[in-house]
Amino acid sequence: MEDIKQLIDKKKLPKHVAIIMDGNGRWATSQGKERTFGHKSAIQAVRNAVNACNEIEIPYLTLYTFSTENWNRPEEEVSALMNLLFETLLNEADDLYSKGLRLKVIGDISAMPKMVYDQLNHVMEITKDNKGGTLILALNYGSQAEILNAVKNIAKEVKNTNLQPENITKDVFESFLYTKDIPPVDLMIRTSGEVRISNFLLWQIAYAELQFLDILWPDFTREEFFKAIVRYQNKERRYGKTSDQIKADKA
Ligand code: IPE
Ligand code: IPE
Ligand code: MG
Repeated sequence: MEDIKQLIDKKKLPKHVAIIMDGNGRWATSQGKERTFGHKSAIQAVRNAVNACNEIEIPYLTLYTFSTENWNRPEEEVSALMNLLFETLLNEADDLYSKGLRLKVIGDISAMPKMVYDQLNHVMEITKDNKGGTLILALNYGSQAEILNAVKNIAKEVKNTNLQPENITKDVFESFLYTKDIPPVDLMIRTSGEVRISNFLLWQIAYAELQFLDILWPDFTREEFFKAIVRYQNKERRYGKTSDQIKADKA
C-alpha cells in the first residue's frame, strides 16, 4: 500500500493544526466499557497525532484536552481525567524532550489540581528551549473566557496607561490572547462526527479549514492525520479573493 505521506507537499504544510479530540466516551461505551477506558485509550491517538506532526515538521499542534465546560462532568470522570493527565505528563516528558518538542498550554491552568499544575510547569520549563515543534495543550480552555479575559486586560490598559481605544488593532488584540506568538489555525480537525466548535479557538479559526471526521478519537492514526493534510492541501484558500486572483498571485 502506498504511504499516504508521499502525497503530502512539504512546501504547502499548515503551520498550525488544532484538534478537537472527541468521542472517547462513545468509543468505550460501544464496547460495554467505562468511559474512562476511552480516555486511557485516547493516549495512543495523542501520540499518533504528535508523532505524525513531528514527522512532517508541522510547527504548531494544539490539542483540545479539557474545556471550561468539562468541569460539569461527573466528579469521578473529572478526577480520572486529571489523574490521567498527570500520569501522561510524567510518562511522556522525556519523549517530548528527546524529540525536541516544546510544551505550551492555553487556558487558565491555575484552576487545575496542584499536582497537574506543577507537572505542567515542570514539563514546560524543561522543554522551553527546544527548537522542534510546539505542542499546545488547551486545558481549562474556553474561547469565550479567553476573549473576555483579553477585553478586561485591554480595558485596564486603556484606563491605566496611554493606550488609546483607536490604537487597539487586530495585532494589539491578539497580543492579549493566550495564543499570542502562536500563528492562526490553518487546519482544524474534530473527530466523532459532531459538527460543532464547542468554544474552541473562535478567534483563531477565522480562516481555518475545518474537517469533521466520523471516526472516534481513540481510533485516530498517523494515516488519518496525513489524509487530513492531503485534503487540506487540495483546498484553495481564497481569503475573500476570487479563484482567478489566487491563481494569478501564485503564478
Ligand atoms: C473527548 O471525548 C474527551 C474530553 C472531552 C475530555 P468525550 O469524553 O467527550 O467522548 P464522548 O463525546 O462523550 O463520546
Ligand atoms: C470538546 O469536547 C472538548 C474537548 C475535546 C476537550 P466535548 O465532548 O466536551 O464537546 P461537547 O460539549 O459535546 O460539544
Ligand atoms: Mg465529547
